[in-house]
Amino acid sequence: MAYSDKVIDHYENPRNVGSFDKSEENVGTGMVGAPACGDVMKLQIKVNPQTGIIEDARFKTYGCGSAIASSSLVTEWVKGKTLEEATQIKNSQIAEELALPPVKIHCSILAEDAIKAAVEDYKKKHATTPA
Ligand code: FES
Ligand code: FES
Repeated sequence: MAYSDKVIDHYENPRNVGSFDKSEENVGTGMVGAPACGDVMKLQIKVNPQTGIIEDARFKTYGCGSAIASSSLVTEWVKGKTLEEATQIKNSQIAEELALPPVKIHCSILAEDAIKAAVEDYKKKHATTPA
């Protein structure tokens, strides 16, 4: 199968690879797996507690090129967004941006789920403090 140029670009030059310390107060961590292929994606956000804006993001993905490209793209997209805005990112937008073929759509779903999980985790940590 041929990967699109954007997939290859993100795969060869992944943005924001790495981890934050997940015990940090202002970090949210989402870890999701794809039952279809066994790939695993970890996506983290760093939130400014004053503004509620996502200031930085990191990912580690054990998976195919499309999964890596999807997570790389999403870490770029979430920066500067509020938590609400970040959860509105749709896998269809990711798939469209990367021109993913139908068999690779679940890779983009992984990225959507990972960002939602990261936001959930952050919210859980801050459930007792006013947002
Ligand atoms: Fe998951 Fe592509 S099948 S690596
Ligand atoms: Fe399964 Fe890409 S995440 S093939």
